[in-house]
Amino acid sequence: MSKKFKKIGVLTSGGDAPGMNAAIRTVVRSALAEGVEVMGIYRGYSGLIRGDIRPLEMRDVSNTMNHGGTFLYSDRCPEFKTEEGMKKAIDTCKAFGIDGIVALGGDGTFRGATDLTVRGIPCVGIPCTIDNDITSTEYTIGFDTATNTTMDLIDRLRDTCESHARCNVVEVMGRNAGDIAAYTAVTSGATAVILPEVPFSEEALLQKIRTSRKLGKRNFIVVVSEGMGADFAPALTERIEKETGVESRFARFAHVVRGGEPTMRDRMLASRMGVFAVEQLLQDKSNIVVCERDNRLVSLDIAFALIVDRMYKGKLKDGDLDAFSKEQIAEMEAICAKKKALIGSLATMVDKIGL
Ligand code: ADP
Ligand code: F6P
Repeated sequence: MSKKFKKIGVLTSGGDAPGMNAAIRTVVRSALAEGVEVMGIYRGYSGLIRGDIRPLEMRDVSNTMNHGGTFLYSDRCPEFKTEEGMKKAIDTCKAFGIDGIVALGGDGTFRGATDLTVRGIPCVGIPCTIDNDITSTEYTIGFDTATNTTMDLIDRLRDTCESHARCNVVEVMGRNAGDIAAYTAVTSGATAVILPEVPFSEEALLQKIRTSRKLGKRNFIVVVSEGMGADFAPALTERIEKETGVESRFARFAHVVRGGEPTMRDRMLASRMGVFAVEQLLQDKSNIVVCERDNRLVSLDIAFALIVDRMYKGKLKDGDLDAFSKEQIAEMEAICAKKKALIGSLATMVDKIGL
């Protein structure tokens, strides 16, 4: 381990995710085990600007792993994106003697981590978001809990849906990503899933409901990703009732799935990523994000991770790929193709099996 690091900071930023506390806990304890002090930076980058920082000792992270949210609190901090805000953040690091930072969050948080790294504060990112929309990692911390909660809520809806022979259209979180929708539609036996990444025919869905109703099916669950837009699912609910005669109700789960006790898988991923992030930082590897690929943890350059994300979302800009080798671009394309194929196959499965 490098002797360069005497004191590191840890912060949570952007949308919170269940499992963040478990990751903070492992970051703290694995750094302390290497003789490195840890400072808790409260309210994300806002706390870094304002000096809302306290030491975290071994016992400060006791009894935290089983709780959702983040005990360090989170924030969205536009000021951090300004030169002045960034300067204040660097000055705070110097004032508190912080030599490096582990930043838990999503792509915005990682952009901030890069800005700090290039200004002399090495950072490592840990992907935390319920949306699972960080393409460079197969799983983000929080996704498993959010999908299990969503699945549980759909199971509850199904009970009443079956009693009343209705259709329930459910809008689930995920911002522009359909991962939560696709995974929960499969695992809750939905009739259909509608997400931005996969083409969908409303007419085919209406016909499917009419046919299945004639064959005796009582309940219909249609899962819609919030990425379809806020008006989409309520309008679809009305259309289903009007055009199939099946009484329909709309439910939006929203933030309720972002809280709650993290599942075993999220605690495990958070624990593994926390240890790995500290190892990487203390070995002087920075400007990286910890990713899970094929059940292994790897570290990828934040720049690579951000561009592979844009590639997957079809948002590449001119020149985005200029800094990367042919091999790196091929790797990015392979990551995107694998994820697209997976989401597509889940949607197809719902279509075939959700009868
Ligand atoms: P997430 O990390 O979940 O994507 P946000 O996009 O809200 O969430 O980003 C979290 C915070 O990271 C922002 O409030 C801001 O402080 C910081 N951030 C976001 N984008 C940038 C950027 N381009 N440069 C520097 N900091 C950024
Ligand atoms: O990124 C997590 C997430 O919960 C998304 O699923 C959702 O679109 C968004 O954050 C909601 O943001 P806010 O907490 O600002 O309402």
